[in-house]
Amino acid sequence: MEAIKQVRYHVVEASGLFEPDSTLLLSGCADAPLRPGDRRLVVIDSTVDELHGERITRYFDHHGITVTLLPLRADESVKRWDLVTDVVDAMNDFGIDRRREPVIAIGGGVLLDVVGLAASLYRRGTPYIRIPTTLVGLVDAGVGVKTGVNYGQGKNRLGTYAPAVATFVDRSFLSTLDARHLANGLAEILKMALIKSAELFGLLEDFGPLLIEDRFQGSTPALETAARRIVSEAIHLMLEELQPNLWEQCLERCVDYGHTFSPTIEMEALPELLHGEAVTVDMALTTVLGRMRGDVTEHQAQRVLALMDRLRLPLWTDVLARPGILDGALADTVRHRDGQQRLPLPVGIGHHRFVNDVTPEELNAALRELDAARRRTGQDIGPVAGLVGAGEAA
Ligand SMILES: NC(=O)c1ccc[n+]([C@@H]2O[C@H](COP(=O)([O-])OP(=O)(O)OC[C@H]3O[C@@H](n4cnc5c(N)ncnc54)[C@H](O)[C@@H]3O)[C@@H](O)[C@H]2O)c1
Repeated sequence: MEAIKQVRYHVVEASGLFEPDSTLLLSGCADAPLRPGDRRLVVIDSTVDELHGERITRYFDHHGITVTLLPLRADESVKRWDLVTDVVDAMNDFGIDRRREPVIAIGGGVLLDVVGLAASLYRRGTPYIRIPTTLVGLVDAGVGVKTGVNYGQGKNRLGTYAPAVATFVDRSFLSTLDARHLANGLAEILKMALIKSAELFGLLEDFGPLLIEDRFQGSTPALETAARRIVSEAIHLMLEELQPNLWEQCLERCVDYGHTFSPTIEMEALPELLHGEAVTVDMALTTVLGRMRGDVTEHQAQRVLALMDRLRLPLWTDVLARPGILDGALADTVRHRDGQQRLPLPVGIGHHRFVNDVTPEELNAALRELDAARRRTGQDIGPVAGLVGAGEAA
Protein backbone atom coordinates (compact mmCIF):
# COMPACT_ATOMS: atom_id res chain seq x y z
CA MET A 1 0.00 0.00 0.00
CA GLU A 2 1.00 3.57 -0.32
CA ALA A 3 -0.18 6.55 1.67
CA ILE A 4 0.76 10.18 1.71
CA LYS A 5 0.91 12.28 4.81
CA GLN A 6 0.43 15.96 4.31
CA VAL A 7 2.51 18.17 6.57
CA ARG A 8 1.84 21.75 7.44
CA TYR A 9 3.30 23.89 10.16
CA HIS A 10 3.60 27.56 10.83
CA VAL A 11 6.55 29.73 11.74
CA VAL A 12 5.07 32.97 13.01
CA GLU A 13 7.05 36.17 13.55
CA ALA A 14 5.79 37.25 16.94
CA SER A 15 7.45 40.24 18.60
CA GLY A 16 6.13 40.92 22.08
CA LEU A 17 4.33 37.57 22.21
CA PHE A 18 3.66 37.84 25.95
CA GLU A 19 2.79 41.54 26.02
CA PRO A 20 -0.56 41.58 27.84
CA ASP A 21 -2.55 42.72 24.83
CA SER A 22 -0.86 40.61 22.17
CA THR A 23 -3.29 38.17 20.58
CA LEU A 24 -0.73 36.36 18.41
CA LEU A 25 -0.58 33.31 20.63
CA LEU A 26 -4.38 33.18 20.77
CA SER A 27 -5.21 33.61 17.13
CA GLY A 28 -1.92 33.99 15.23
CA CYS A 29 -2.06 30.42 14.00
CA ALA A 30 -5.33 29.09 12.62
CA ASP A 31 -4.31 25.49 13.37
CA ALA A 32 -3.81 26.12 17.08
CA PRO A 33 -6.39 28.54 18.42
CA LEU A 34 -6.29 29.34 22.11
CA ARG A 35 -9.45 30.62 23.77
CA PRO A 36 -10.38 31.96 27.19
CA GLY A 37 -11.34 28.99 29.34
CA ASP A 38 -8.86 26.65 27.63
CA ARG A 39 -6.18 24.87 29.64
CA ARG A 40 -2.66 24.02 28.57
CA LEU A 41 0.38 22.13 29.78
CA VAL A 42 3.34 24.48 29.43
CA VAL A 43 6.80 22.95 29.67
CA ILE A 44 9.35 25.67 30.27
CA ASP A 45 13.12 25.77 30.62
CA SER A 46 13.66 26.51 34.33
CA THR A 47 16.10 29.36 33.55
CA VAL A 48 13.52 30.95 31.27
CA ASP A 49 10.93 30.44 33.99
CA GLU A 50 13.11 32.36 36.45
CA LEU A 51 13.74 35.19 33.99
CA HIS A 52 10.43 35.46 32.14
CA GLY A 53 8.02 33.20 34.04
CA GLU A 54 6.18 35.98 35.78
CA ARG A 55 5.19 37.85 32.63
CA ILE A 56 4.28 34.57 30.92
CA THR A 57 2.01 33.48 33.78
CA ARG A 58 0.48 36.95 33.93
CA TYR A 59 -0.25 36.75 30.20
CA PHE A 60 -2.09 33.46 30.46
CA ASP A 61 -4.02 34.69 33.53
CA HIS A 62 -4.96 37.89 31.71
CA HIS A 63 -6.43 35.87 28.83
CA GLY A 64 -8.23 33.35 31.03
CA ILE A 65 -6.09 30.37 30.09
CA THR A 66 -5.47 27.87 32.89
CA VAL A 67 -1.89 26.76 32.75
CA THR A 68 -0.06 23.88 34.38
CA LEU A 69 3.58 24.87 34.34
CA LEU A 70 6.36 22.28 34.28
CA PRO A 71 9.75 23.97 34.70
CA LEU A 72 12.59 21.69 33.60
CA ARG A 73 16.31 22.19 33.78
CA ALA A 74 17.26 21.85 30.12
CA ASP A 75 20.77 22.11 28.79
CA GLU A 76 23.05 19.82 26.82
CA SER A 77 24.37 18.03 29.90
CA VAL A 78 20.89 16.75 30.80
CA LYS A 79 19.58 16.18 27.26
CA ARG A 80 18.81 12.56 27.97
CA TRP A 81 15.96 10.12 27.92
CA ASP A 82 15.04 10.80 31.59
CA LEU A 83 13.98 14.29 30.61
CA VAL A 84 11.58 12.86 28.03
CA THR A 85 9.92 10.68 30.64
CA ASP A 86 9.58 13.70 32.94
CA VAL A 87 7.52 15.37 30.21
CA VAL A 88 5.54 12.20 29.53
CA ASP A 89 4.70 11.93 33.26
CA ALA A 90 3.46 15.52 33.22
CA MET A 91 1.33 14.81 30.14
CA ASN A 92 -0.15 11.79 31.89
CA ASP A 93 -0.89 13.76 35.06
CA PHE A 94 -2.43 16.57 33.06
CA GLY A 95 -4.61 14.09 31.17
CA ILE A 96 -4.00 15.71 27.85
CA ASP A 97 -6.73 15.72 25.24
CA ARG A 98 -4.49 15.04 22.29
CA ARG A 99 -6.95 16.41 19.77
CA ARG A 100 -7.38 19.82 21.33
CA GLU A 101 -4.69 20.59 23.84
CA PRO A 102 -1.27 21.04 22.27
CA VAL A 103 1.59 21.08 24.73
CA ILE A 104 3.40 24.41 24.75
CA ALA A 105 7.21 24.24 24.89
CA ILE A 106 9.09 27.38 25.92
CA GLY A 107 12.87 27.23 25.95
CA GLY A 108 16.09 26.69 24.06
CA GLY A 109 16.91 23.96 21.56
CA VAL A 110 17.28 21.33 24.24
CA LEU A 111 13.86 21.96 25.80
CA LEU A 112 12.21 22.10 22.35
CA ASP A 113 13.86 18.86 21.22
CA VAL A 114 12.88 17.06 24.43
CA VAL A 115 9.26 18.20 24.47
CA GLY A 116 8.99 17.51 20.73
CA LEU A 117 10.23 13.97 21.26
CA ALA A 118 7.91 13.35 24.21
CA ALA A 119 4.92 14.78 22.33
CA SER A 120 5.65 12.73 19.22
CA LEU A 121 5.78 9.52 21.25
CA TYR A 122 2.85 10.20 23.54
CA ARG A 123 -0.12 8.30 22.13
CA ARG A 124 1.82 8.08 18.85
CA GLY A 125 1.72 11.80 18.38
CA THR A 126 0.35 14.72 20.36
CA PRO A 127 0.45 18.23 18.95
CA TYR A 128 2.86 20.74 20.41
CA ILE A 129 3.75 24.38 19.99
CA ARG A 130 7.27 25.79 20.15
CA ILE A 131 8.27 29.11 21.62
CA PRO A 132 12.06 29.29 21.27
CA THR A 133 13.98 31.45 23.71
CA THR A 134 17.54 31.15 22.39
CA LEU A 135 18.93 32.24 19.04
CA VAL A 136 19.61 28.60 18.11
CA GLY A 137 15.98 27.91 18.92
CA LEU A 138 14.73 30.85 16.87
CA VAL A 139 16.61 30.10 13.68
CA ASP A 140 17.20 26.37 13.80
CA ALA A 141 15.76 24.07 16.46
CA GLY A 142 12.40 25.83 16.27
CA VAL A 143 12.19 25.75 12.50
CA GLY A 144 12.73 22.15 11.40
CA VAL A 145 10.89 18.94 12.24
CA LYS A 146 13.48 16.96 14.15
CA THR A 147 13.31 16.09 17.82
CA GLY A 148 15.82 14.16 19.88
CA VAL A 149 17.94 13.44 22.91
CA ASN A 150 21.50 12.22 23.29
CA TYR A 151 22.14 8.56 24.05
CA GLY A 152 25.49 7.12 25.12
CA GLN A 153 28.08 9.06 23.12
CA GLY A 154 25.58 9.62 20.32
CA LYS A 155 24.39 13.18 19.79
CA ASN A 156 20.61 13.18 19.23
CA ARG A 157 20.83 9.41 18.80
CA LEU A 158 17.20 8.95 19.80
CA GLY A 159 14.71 11.11 17.97
CA THR A 160 11.77 11.49 15.67
CA TYR A 161 10.56 13.63 12.81
CA ALA A 162 7.68 15.52 14.35
CA PRO A 163 6.69 19.00 13.20
CA ALA A 164 5.22 21.29 15.81
CA VAL A 165 1.89 22.82 14.89
CA ALA A 166 3.50 26.24 15.11
CA THR A 167 6.59 28.07 16.22
CA PHE A 168 6.31 31.63 17.51
CA VAL A 169 9.49 33.59 16.97
CA ASP A 170 9.93 36.34 19.55
CA ARG A 171 13.33 38.03 19.81
CA SER A 172 12.49 39.63 23.16
CA PHE A 173 13.61 36.44 24.93
CA LEU A 174 17.14 37.10 23.70
CA SER A 175 17.39 40.11 26.01
CA THR A 176 18.47 37.77 28.82
CA LEU A 177 20.67 35.43 26.79
CA ASP A 178 24.40 35.72 27.35
CA ALA A 179 26.87 36.69 24.63
CA ARG A 180 28.22 33.18 24.29
CA HIS A 181 24.81 31.69 23.52
CA LEU A 182 24.03 34.52 21.12
CA ALA A 183 27.25 33.79 19.26
CA ASN A 184 26.30 30.14 19.35
CA GLY A 185 23.11 30.95 17.43
CA LEU A 186 24.96 33.23 15.05
CA ALA A 187 27.02 30.17 14.11
CA GLU A 188 23.94 28.49 12.63
CA ILE A 189 23.03 31.72 10.83
CA LEU A 190 26.57 31.91 9.49
CA LYS A 191 26.16 28.36 8.22
CA MET A 192 23.18 29.38 6.10
CA ALA A 193 25.06 32.44 4.86
CA LEU A 194 28.15 30.47 3.87
CA ILE A 195 26.31 27.93 1.76
CA LYS A 196 23.39 29.97 0.47
CA SER A 197 23.63 33.73 0.83
CA ALA A 198 26.48 36.15 0.30
CA GLU A 199 24.02 38.90 1.24
CA LEU A 200 23.37 37.38 4.66
CA PHE A 201 27.12 36.99 5.11
CA GLY A 202 27.55 40.71 4.41
CA LEU A 203 24.87 41.55 6.99
CA LEU A 204 26.68 39.42 9.55
CA GLU A 205 29.96 41.16 8.77
CA ASP A 206 28.32 44.58 9.18
CA PHE A 207 26.09 43.88 12.17
CA GLY A 208 26.93 40.53 13.81
CA PRO A 209 29.13 41.81 16.65
CA LEU A 210 26.84 44.79 17.25
CA LEU A 211 23.81 42.52 17.48
CA ILE A 212 25.53 40.43 20.14
CA GLU A 213 26.06 43.58 22.18
CA ASP A 214 22.48 44.68 21.60
CA ARG A 215 21.14 41.17 22.22
CA PHE A 216 19.05 41.48 19.08
CA GLN A 217 16.76 43.97 20.85
CA GLY A 218 16.88 46.63 18.12
CA SER A 219 17.80 49.55 20.32
CA THR A 220 18.38 51.74 17.27
CA PRO A 221 16.39 51.65 14.01
CA ALA A 222 19.45 50.30 12.15
CA LEU A 223 19.96 47.52 14.68
CA GLU A 224 16.24 46.69 14.65
CA THR A 225 16.27 46.35 10.87
CA ALA A 226 19.44 44.29 10.92
CA ALA A 227 18.18 41.97 13.68
CA ARG A 228 14.85 41.45 11.92
CA ARG A 229 16.44 40.86 8.52
CA ILE A 230 19.09 38.48 9.79
CA VAL A 231 16.69 36.34 11.82
CA SER A 232 13.98 36.23 9.18
CA GLU A 233 16.42 35.58 6.33
CA ALA A 234 18.06 32.74 8.25
CA ILE A 235 14.64 31.17 8.93
CA HIS A 236 13.53 31.70 5.35
CA LEU A 237 16.67 30.09 3.90
CA MET A 238 16.32 27.18 6.31
CA LEU A 239 12.65 26.56 5.43
CA GLU A 240 13.46 26.82 1.74
CA GLU A 241 15.98 23.98 2.12
CA LEU A 242 13.82 21.85 4.40
CA GLN A 243 10.55 22.03 2.49
CA PRO A 244 11.41 19.83 -0.53
CA ASN A 245 13.29 17.30 1.60
CA LEU A 246 11.58 17.34 4.98
CA TRP A 247 12.12 13.65 5.72
CA GLU A 248 15.73 13.78 4.51
CA GLN A 249 15.24 11.14 1.85
CA CYS A 250 17.84 13.00 -0.18
CA LEU A 251 20.99 12.70 1.86
CA GLU A 252 22.80 15.51 0.09
CA ARG A 253 21.62 18.31 2.35
CA CYS A 254 23.43 21.60 2.27
CA VAL A 255 22.05 22.40 5.74
CA ASP A 256 24.32 19.58 6.93
CA TYR A 257 27.18 21.96 6.28
CA GLY A 258 29.17 22.26 9.49
CA HIS A 259 27.61 19.02 10.73
CA THR A 260 30.01 16.44 9.26
CA PHE A 261 32.71 16.48 11.93
CA SER A 262 30.94 18.54 14.56
CA PRO A 263 28.75 15.80 16.10
CA THR A 264 31.88 13.89 17.14
CA ILE A 265 33.77 17.05 18.07
CA GLU A 266 30.87 18.27 20.21
CA MET A 267 30.43 15.01 22.08
CA GLU A 268 34.19 14.55 22.60
CA ALA A 269 34.59 18.11 23.83
CA LEU A 270 31.56 18.11 26.15
CA PRO A 271 31.02 20.28 28.10
CA GLU A 272 33.66 22.58 26.60
CA LEU A 273 31.93 23.41 23.33
CA LEU A 274 28.38 24.46 22.61
CA HIS A 275 26.66 23.06 19.52
CA GLY A 276 27.19 26.13 17.35
CA GLU A 277 30.78 26.37 18.47
CA ALA A 278 31.45 22.81 17.36
CA VAL A 279 29.68 23.61 14.08
CA THR A 280 31.97 26.62 13.66
CA VAL A 281 35.08 24.51 14.14
CA ASP A 282 33.73 22.18 11.42
CA MET A 283 33.01 25.16 9.14
CA ALA A 284 36.46 26.63 9.75
CA LEU A 285 38.02 23.32 8.81
CA THR A 286 35.90 22.90 5.70
CA THR A 287 36.54 26.50 4.67
CA VAL A 288 40.23 25.63 4.71
CA LEU A 289 39.47 22.42 2.78
CA GLY A 290 37.62 24.52 0.22
CA ARG A 291 40.56 26.88 -0.04
CA MET A 292 42.98 24.00 -0.52
CA ARG A 293 40.78 22.68 -3.32
CA GLY A 294 40.70 26.07 -5.01
CA ASP A 295 36.94 26.55 -4.49
CA VAL A 296 37.42 29.34 -1.96
CA THR A 297 39.99 32.09 -2.50
CA GLU A 298 42.53 33.00 0.14
CA HIS A 299 40.78 36.35 0.61
CA GLN A 300 37.37 34.71 1.04
CA ALA A 301 38.75 32.19 3.53
CA GLN A 302 40.30 35.00 5.52
CA ARG A 303 37.01 36.91 5.57
CA VAL A 304 35.17 33.82 6.81
CA LEU A 305 37.66 33.01 9.57
CA ALA A 306 37.89 36.67 10.59
CA LEU A 307 34.10 36.91 10.90
CA MET A 308 33.99 33.76 13.02
CA ASP A 309 36.57 35.32 15.28
CA ARG A 310 34.69 38.64 15.47
CA LEU A 311 31.54 36.73 16.40
CA ARG A 312 33.53 35.25 19.28
CA LEU A 313 33.32 31.77 17.82
CA PRO A 314 36.16 29.29 18.11
CA LEU A 315 38.09 28.16 15.05
CA TRP A 316 39.70 25.37 16.94
CA THR A 317 39.41 22.91 19.80
CA ASP A 318 42.19 20.75 21.17
CA VAL A 319 39.95 17.75 20.52
CA LEU A 320 41.04 18.14 16.89
CA ALA A 321 44.55 17.10 17.83
CA ARG A 322 43.47 13.68 19.06
CA PRO A 323 44.81 11.14 16.58
CA GLY A 324 42.22 9.87 14.13
CA ILE A 325 39.41 12.04 15.48
CA LEU A 326 38.38 13.47 12.11
CA ASP A 327 38.69 10.14 10.30
CA GLY A 328 36.42 8.59 12.93
CA ALA A 329 33.97 11.48 12.68
CA LEU A 330 33.88 11.19 8.90
CA ALA A 331 33.36 7.41 9.09
CA ASP A 332 30.45 7.97 11.46
CA THR A 333 28.92 10.53 9.12
CA VAL A 334 29.40 8.20 6.12
CA ARG A 335 27.43 5.53 8.01
CA HIS A 336 24.75 8.11 8.65
CA ARG A 337 24.71 9.18 4.98
CA ASP A 338 24.23 5.74 3.49
CA GLY A 339 27.81 4.85 2.71
CA GLN A 340 28.97 8.06 1.07
CA GLN A 341 30.56 11.23 2.40
CA ARG A 342 28.10 13.63 0.69
CA LEU A 343 30.15 16.34 2.27
CA PRO A 344 28.96 19.87 1.54
CA LEU A 345 31.95 22.11 0.91
CA PRO A 346 31.85 25.86 0.36
CA VAL A 347 32.30 27.36 -3.08
CA GLY A 348 33.21 31.00 -2.59
CA ILE A 349 30.90 32.63 -0.07
CA GLY A 350 27.21 31.77 -0.43
CA HIS A 351 27.51 28.64 -2.59
CA HIS A 352 28.40 25.00 -2.06
CA ARG A 353 28.95 21.64 -3.70
CA PHE A 354 29.02 18.04 -2.46
CA VAL A 355 32.11 15.85 -2.52
CA ASN A 356 32.79 12.18 -1.77
CA ASP A 357 36.55 12.01 -2.01
CA VAL A 358 38.01 13.62 1.11
CA THR A 359 41.02 11.60 2.31
CA PRO A 360 42.70 11.32 5.73
CA GLU A 361 45.80 13.01 4.27
CA GLU A 362 43.76 15.95 3.03
CA LEU A 363 42.12 16.28 6.45
CA ASN A 364 45.47 16.25 8.17
CA ALA A 365 46.81 18.95 5.85
CA ALA A 366 43.67 21.04 6.44
CA LEU A 367 44.11 20.65 10.19
CA ARG A 368 47.64 21.99 10.00
CA GLU A 369 46.53 24.92 7.89
CA LEU A 370 43.65 25.68 10.23
CA ASP A 371 45.95 25.56 13.22
CA ALA A 372 48.19 28.13 11.56
CA ALA A 373 45.22 30.30 10.61
CA ARG A 374 43.70 30.38 14.08
CA ARG A 375 47.04 31.39 15.52
CA ARG A 376 47.14 34.28 13.04
CA THR A 377 43.72 35.44 14.25
CA GLY A 378 45.06 35.37 17.79
CA GLN A 379 42.99 32.34 18.78
CA ASP A 380 46.10 30.72 20.13
CA ILE A 381 45.07 28.48 22.96
CA GLY A 382 48.37 26.85 23.67
CA PRO A 383 50.48 24.21 21.99
CA VAL A 384 48.66 21.49 20.15
CA ALA A 385 49.94 18.16 21.28
CA GLY A 386 49.96 15.41 18.71
CA LEU A 387 49.46 17.53 15.62
CA VAL A 388 52.35 16.76 13.32
CA GLY A 389 53.89 19.88 11.87
CA ALA A 390 51.61 22.28 13.76
CA GLY A 391 54.57 24.16 15.16
CA GLU A 392 56.17 24.70 11.76
CA ALA A 393 52.88 25.72 10.18
CA ALA A 394 52.42 28.41 12.84
N1 LIG B 1 15.82 19.90 16.25
C1 LIG B 1 16.60 20.59 15.48
O1 LIG B 1 16.40 20.70 14.27
C2 LIG B 1 17.77 21.28 16.11
C3 LIG B 1 18.49 22.23 15.37
C4 LIG B 1 19.55 22.89 15.99
C5 LIG B 1 19.90 22.58 17.29
N2 LIG B 1 19.19 21.62 17.96
C6 LIG B 1 19.55 21.28 19.32
O2 LIG B 1 19.46 22.44 20.13
C7 LIG B 1 20.35 22.33 21.22
C8 LIG B 1 21.06 23.64 21.42
O3 LIG B 1 20.08 24.62 21.68
P1 LIG B 1 20.44 25.96 22.49
O4 LIG B 1 21.67 26.52 21.95
O5 LIG B 1 19.19 26.73 22.51
O6 LIG B 1 20.84 25.42 23.91
P2 LIG B 1 20.02 25.18 25.26
O7 LIG B 1 18.64 24.76 25.01
O8 LIG B 1 20.90 24.29 26.08
O9 LIG B 1 19.98 26.63 25.93
C9 LIG B 1 21.18 27.24 26.30
C10 LIG B 1 21.15 27.75 27.72
O10 LIG B 1 20.43 28.96 27.76
C11 LIG B 1 19.41 28.92 28.74
N3 LIG B 1 18.35 29.77 28.22
C12 LIG B 1 17.37 29.46 27.33
N4 LIG B 1 16.69 30.56 27.00
C13 LIG B 1 17.23 31.58 27.69
C14 LIG B 1 16.94 32.98 27.77
N5 LIG B 1 15.98 33.53 27.01
N6 LIG B 1 17.68 33.73 28.59
C15 LIG B 1 18.69 33.19 29.32
N7 LIG B 1 19.00 31.90 29.28
C16 LIG B 1 18.29 31.09 28.48
C17 LIG B 1 19.10 27.46 28.90
O11 LIG B 1 18.60 27.18 30.19
C18 LIG B 1 20.46 26.82 28.70
O12 LIG B 1 21.20 26.82 29.89
C19 LIG B 1 21.29 21.17 20.89
O13 LIG B 1 20.98 20.08 21.72
C20 LIG B 1 20.98 20.83 19.45
O14 LIG B 1 21.11 19.45 19.19
C21 LIG B 1 18.14 20.99 17.40
